[in-house]
Amino acid sequence: MRWYPPHALLATAVLGGTLISTVQAADGQAVYQQVCVACHQAGAVGAPGLAPSLVGAVAARAGQPAMRQYLALVLTHGLQGRIVSEGQTYNSVMPAQTQLSDEDLAAALSHVVRDLAGQASVPAFAASELAQARASTVSPKALRAQRDAALAP
Ligand code: HEC
Repeated sequence: MRWYPPHALLATAVLGGTLISTVQAADGQAVYQQVCVACHQAGAVGAPGLAPSLVGAVAARAGQPAMRQYLALVLTHGLQGRIVSEGQTYNSVMPAQTQLSDEDLAAALSHVVRDLAGQASVPAFAASELAQARASTVSPKALRAQRDAALAP
């Protein structure tokens, strides 16, 4: 058997691990950077007139069932019409992100809520939550009503 210097073996192991994790696990940060950041900005802080912050009151309640369902529905159905977020009014359109898999959408939501908003105690989103949202129908108006309900004190 050929002898490999220890650092060569280590490099192979690290590279192999990276390749495997890229294939197996959806990378929420990568999805966010590729898709969401254009509108929601770095750190998901939002931009008045363009797209709301994702790291305020909505993320703070992402552990609650009504809010989790709302977030999954926004990604699978988009959102349009007037909302007030962190004191700013938006009356715009977010396109549904159905080009992404349930795994990618779940990873992106988990990244936003747990990493960017710092709500580390909120359980990660599961692909099944996104699949359920994808399969359901909801009107833009009903989705905004669900937002209000999920944010109500
Ligand atoms: C083309 C721009 C655009 C892209 C891309 C986009 N969004 Fe949005 N998003 C918006 C806009 C605009 C709204 C608010 C719509 C309105 O005014 O009703 C919104 C709303 C939201 C909301 C609801 C926020 C709230 O306060 O209720 C969430 C959650 C969200 N986006 C997450 C994401 C995630 C995660 C991605 C990436 C997978 C993404 N968005 C991609 C523009 C975008």
